[in-house]
Amino acid sequence: MKEIALRAAREGGRILMQKFGTALRIEHKGAVDLVTEADREAEQAIVGVIRQTFPRHSILAEEADYGEGNAAYRWIIDPLDGTTNFAHAFPWFAVSIALEVDGAVVLGVVYNPANQEMYVAEKGRGAYLNDVQIRVSTLAGIEDSLLATGFPYDRKHSEVNNYDHFLNFQQAAQACRRAGVASLDLACTAAGRFDGYWEMKLKPWDVAAGKLLVEEAGGLVSDFDGRPCDIFGAEILASNGLIHEPMMDLLRHGRRPG
Ligand code: IPD
Ligand code: CA
Ligand code: CA
Repeated sequence: MKEIALRAAREGGRILMQKFGTALRIEHKGAVDLVTEADREAEQAIVGVIRQTFPRHSILAEEADYGEGNAAYRWIIDPLDGTTNFAHAFPWFAVSIALEVDGAVVLGVVYNPANQEMYVAEKGRGAYLNDVQIRVSTLAGIEDSLLATGFPYDRKHSEVNNYDHFLNFQQAAQACRRAGVASLDLACTAAGRFDGYWEMKLKPWDVAAGKLLVEEAGGLVSDFDGRPCDIFGAEILASNGLIHEPMMDLLRHGRRPG
């Protein structure tokens, strides 16, 4: 299954790189939520690779409905995480593929094709970047931390838009980044590049693979209260573990979904 996930991620990445920087057909799903032909074609290719070997597995992917399959195996796919970056030819985007077995994510692959960085985590077997094992950072002071976040697609209409949390973290940390790719924010947290990451109102395909990467790299992933993070839930807080408490303290001071 890992081999298939890797093959599917590479195939998706190949299509994205073919389309990257070309004139794209771009549609709006919402005011700031885009979809391009690259999202759809990459998804078809990824699903094609998986179905060739596992025709009956369930598939939950961002751009299309694939019906019901074998409930025990479910692939959770974001064919292009970072569509806004992609549509502006900003080379920071990823393919994210996770595999759930009996409701638990056991495999996570995040592939950044522009940088040729392949992140892989298997439950109980660690996290790897291009075959080298990765660990979360060992930084213990939030004042020295580099953090990542993102803002939800309904930010222009909803007051629960993460702006308040961003201000609080920007004051507390060394710096915060908003690079526009949730799966890579998590992968970079797993690799110790970021020390922590929080976001709200994401979808399961944004976080399923990245969550396992952080956990397998020795980090912590929870909701804003420290409870287990549900990939279908509205909050995610990931860190190296050492700055989890101070991050939770700050998150108590801003608006929260739900
Ligand atoms: C988006 C990215 C972004 C996050 C958005 C996501 P998409 O995914 O992960 O970092 O802030 O909310 O929806 O739409 O580019 O696949
Ligand atoms: Ca996404
Ligand atoms: Ca996407």
